[in-house]
Formats: sequence, structure tokens, C-alpha cells
Amino acid sequence: MKPWLGANWKMHKTVREAREYVARWNSLVEESPLGEEAEVVLFPPFTALAAVGEALVGASLGAQDVYPEDQGAFTGEISPLMLAELGVRYVLVGHSERRHILGEEDAFLRRKFDALVARGFVPVLCVGETAEERRAGRTEEVLLRQLEGVLGGREAFPGTFVVAYEPVWAIGTGTPATPEDAAQAVARIRTYLHGRFGAAADGVPVVYGGSVDPENVGGFVRPGVSDGALVGSKSLEADVFYRLVRNA
Ligand code: G3P
Repeated sequence: MKPWLGANWKMHKTVREAREYVARWNSLVEESPLGEEAEVVLFPPFTALAAVGEALVGASLGAQDVYPEDQGAFTGEISPLMLAELGVRYVLVGHSERRHILGEEDAFLRRKFDALVARGFVPVLCVGETAEERRAGRTEEVLLRQLEGVLGGREAFPGTFVVAYEPVWAIGTGTPATPEDAAQAVARIRTYLHGRFGAAADGVPVVYGGSVDPENVGGFVRPGVSDGALVGSKSLEADVFYRLVRNA
């Protein structure tokens, strides 16, 4: 499987800043193309999606969230139809910041996942335990609950998706999980996916996120550990993220 690398900008960058980033990214990619070596996805904030989508070369477009209805009285929300028109292919579901700051729960995330699949997007389902859950030895239980909450009870393989294992304690802290810990969690996720969907799920990329940088990315993105990385802080400068992709 070729490495999958996501740049989650979170709530960073105005449209002007996003344009500057993409101009720099494009020049790096034109100078030294990434070819088919990796699947790279940029996740700008909603306001910058159109500007990024129009100009971006050598990467796919992703959105950080979605509301699970096509249209209606949902003030402040963005629908799958709106994202489709902008050329968005991937959409994050259940990022820890949405679970823990915005209070999103599995039942709601499941609706998002289903709405995305129905509209032909590739959901990126984010799962991960908090520091407290980890200390209590509940990592596996939490991962299975989050996976089952969205994927459980399905008769058939829902179609292409990605799973991102992002331990909450490693996000934005500068302290990543060890590759061994990441490998263990990713393996558990893989076993779950295989148990639920059989061989169909073996092609689902399971990636790691949490304080990934250009120097440590090689430890996470390799056979036996994970299929890629979802990157926050170190994706905010085009040069740094490009270097990270190169090192993966
Ligand atoms: O979605 C990516 C993320 O939460 C990791 O953030 O800043 O630790 O790379 P960061």
C-alpha cells in the first residue's frame, strides 16, 4: 500500500495564507514531483477549500468535518453536497478535537460516516484514547468502542475509508507515541476491521497521528507499524510538510 499522508491544518490559515502555502507547495512538487509514490491530502479550513482546490497540484483535497444532511435548517454547518462541488475527496470524521471540545459522540459520527459514503467521499475515521484512559489500561476498549460505534452492525463493507489512530495525549504535545505503541494499536484496529469485514478491509489504510514530524515520520510509516500519517502542526509550512512526505 502506498503511504497516505494528511495535512490537517485545523483552525489555521486565512484564504490569503492558504494561497501562499499552495503556491509554495506547487513549486516544490513541480521541482521534484511526488509521482505515484504517496497519497497526499491537504485538509484546509472550510473557508479556504475553494482557493486550495482550484490551485493545488500533487495532492488531494480534504475537509475537516461535515454535517450529515444535504441541506436544511442547520445554521453554521456544511453539507456533503457543498463539499462535493469543491472537489473534496476525503473528510475527517471524529477527530479528537471534535469529540472532546465539541462533544461529538459515536452515534452522530456514524451518521456523518454514512452520509459521506452515500455521496462517494472517503471518510477518515479518527480514533484514539486519552491519557487517562491509557493510564487505566483501557486503550483497546476505547478503540474498539469508537470503531464499533461507527462501523459496527453493518452487513457489508461500506466502501473505501481510512482509519487514523490518534492517541489524544500525543496530539500537539511534541511527544508522539513510540512506533511500538502505534504498531500495537494499529494492529488491533486491523484485527477489528478484518474481523468485521474480512479481506475487503485489508486495503483500508490505517495511519498514525500525534506529533509526527519530518524526523520521526519514518518510524511510523513503514510495514508493520502504519500505512501513513495524519499531521497537524508540522503540516502548517509547505516546506516542512513536503520534507515530511519525502521522508515517509
Ligand atoms: O489530525 C492531526 C493531529 O491531531 C495531530 O496533530 O499537531 O500533533 O501533529 P499534531
